[in-house]
Amino acid sequence: MYDQLRRLWLRLEDAFSTPFGQSVNPWYHLGAITFYLFWVVAVSGAYLYIFYRTGVHEAYQSVEDLTNVQWYAGGLMRSMHRYASDGMVLTMLLHLVRNFGTGRFRHFRWFSWVSGILLIWLVYACGINGYWLVWDRLGQFIAVATTEWFGWLPVFSEPLERNFLVQTNVSDRFFTLLSFAHVSLPLLLLLFMWLHTKRINSAETFPPRPLAAGVVLMLVALSLLHPANSQGGADLGFVGSIGLDWFFLAPYPVLYAASPGALWALLAASTVLLVTLPWLLRRPPKQPVEVHLDNCNGCAGCYEDCPYSAIAMRPRQDGRPYELEPVVQPELCASCGICVGSCPFSMPFRSGVLISGLELPGLPLAVIRAETDRALATLQGSSRLVVYGCDHGLDVSQLRQRDVAAISLPCIGMLPPAFVDYALRDGRAQGVLVVGCRAGDCHFRLGVNWIEQRLQRRRPPYLRQRVSQELVELCWAGTPDEQRALTSLAQLRTRLAAIGDRQRRIAREQTS
Ligand code: HEM
Repeated sequence: MYDQLRRLWLRLEDAFSTPFGQSVNPWYHLGAITFYLFWVVAVSGAYLYIFYRTGVHEAYQSVEDLTNVQWYAGGLMRSMHRYASDGMVLTMLLHLVRNFGTGRFRHFRWFSWVSGILLIWLVYACGINGYWLVWDRLGQFIAVATTEWFGWLPVFSEPLERNFLVQTNVSDRFFTLLSFAHVSLPLLLLLFMWLHTKRINSAETFPPRPLAAGVVLMLVALSLLHPANSQGGADLGFVGSIGLDWFFLAPYPVLYAASPGALWALLAASTVLLVTLPWLLRRPPKQPVEVHLDNCNGCAGCYEDCPYSAIAMRPRQDGRPYELEPVVQPELCASCGICVGSCPFSMPFRSGVLISGLELPGLPLAVIRAETDRALATLQGSSRLVVYGCDHGLDVSQLRQRDVAAISLPCIGMLPPAFVDYALRDGRAQGVLVVGCRAGDCHFRLGVNWIEQRLQRRRPPYLRQRVSQELVELCWAGTPDEQRALTSLAQLRTRLAAIGDRQRRIAREQTS
């Protein structure tokens, strides 16, 4: 059931790859979009701040003037500020759901997950504080409701909401404090966003340019079509309904449908549940990668490529004539093997025992070489192909045929380019298909990028010049994308057949 739902979800996500292209699919960049929306909120907010008056009597009017007098600038900025904030809530929550649904929350990811929960609280605090600042009927409702809610906590001795029941109770100083909070809270949010991504190597904090442009265009269009407005100045005599922004204010109805205590209980229980999920749904961790200094020249390729910054470089300690050596921090290691693929000692051509500078205890390189040899030996037919795949993308065993061998690795980034050379050596295989997770959605973030760059000779270790790139096909396919891989396989066969024809023609021309 879970697998079926997952496949259905992945298919739905893939539908967005048709208009956007796989690597620009917004589902694969939700964290980056959230980050980007923060900057839109910050820039539009900075503009609004220039004109905002912090006095209790001036606040509402200054926002009204921004909206109506300079609708083309202030009004637009106000709407962008509001919709980008709503967008942040939406993409942040989708980012949460997606990371959970794809199992990206346990083990080495616990820090990103737990810091993410803290970000939810901060984003909500910023947004609610912002609505308060407008000091319209909604602002006043939020003021009274929030103080009723907080007043329930035993730390407050007298009901806080009294401060907002009479207009004269609300002072200019209090408004200055609120607007100070509206600068400090986003700064704190930024600090925690930085912490959230600190442990991640080359974190994607800016979405692909077409997405960034599309997001701003959408916000401008929405702002022009449906400008953000106030709901009348704060008025204690007002009786009637108030429109809520459900992105930020959805918890408020619970206050009145149940009680402040119930809302606290609900939020506390959800926070505790979310924070403890990485441990509640823990799975047996895989063994972390091991360093073999005898086969390491301290090139730092593993350090550069590790997606979770689990490898540090320190001065060499074994007396060998190299400057540095890698050290693995086991609690950060994803056991993805990307560092094995980046090691120049991952050389299957070496005779005798094959040990690289880094080895996954659960899947040493020697085993992958033996598997490659075994698979190649069983191939029959004239077009013999090898498929290297990844355990988290398409199950490549489905592609096996009498002339197609398939080997799966923990991540396609674990594949050293020398293995492609090795498989093609002496015509044992005619072509190699490399299958990784969907572009932009690599389970270990960077495996797909690194293997593509290594095979295209843009990142070390490079695929050797003697290997024609025509013999290698790349395919980025998720669990349900069997058809995509079959198409790539067919393309590779067609290309190999054309190469064969070309070679036969040249041979004929040379002999005649
Ligand atoms: C302001 C809100 C947030 C922002 C701006 C944000 C941004 C990001 C970014 C930029 C990344 C790195 C993406 C990459 O390069 O692969 C990331 C990763 C991550 N985020 Fe968030 N995030 C936010 C909230 C959350 C929340 C609420 C959760 C879940 C509770 C969460 C969980 C994670 C996890 C688990 C990762 C690591 C994913 C992986 O290892 O593949 N984030 N986030």
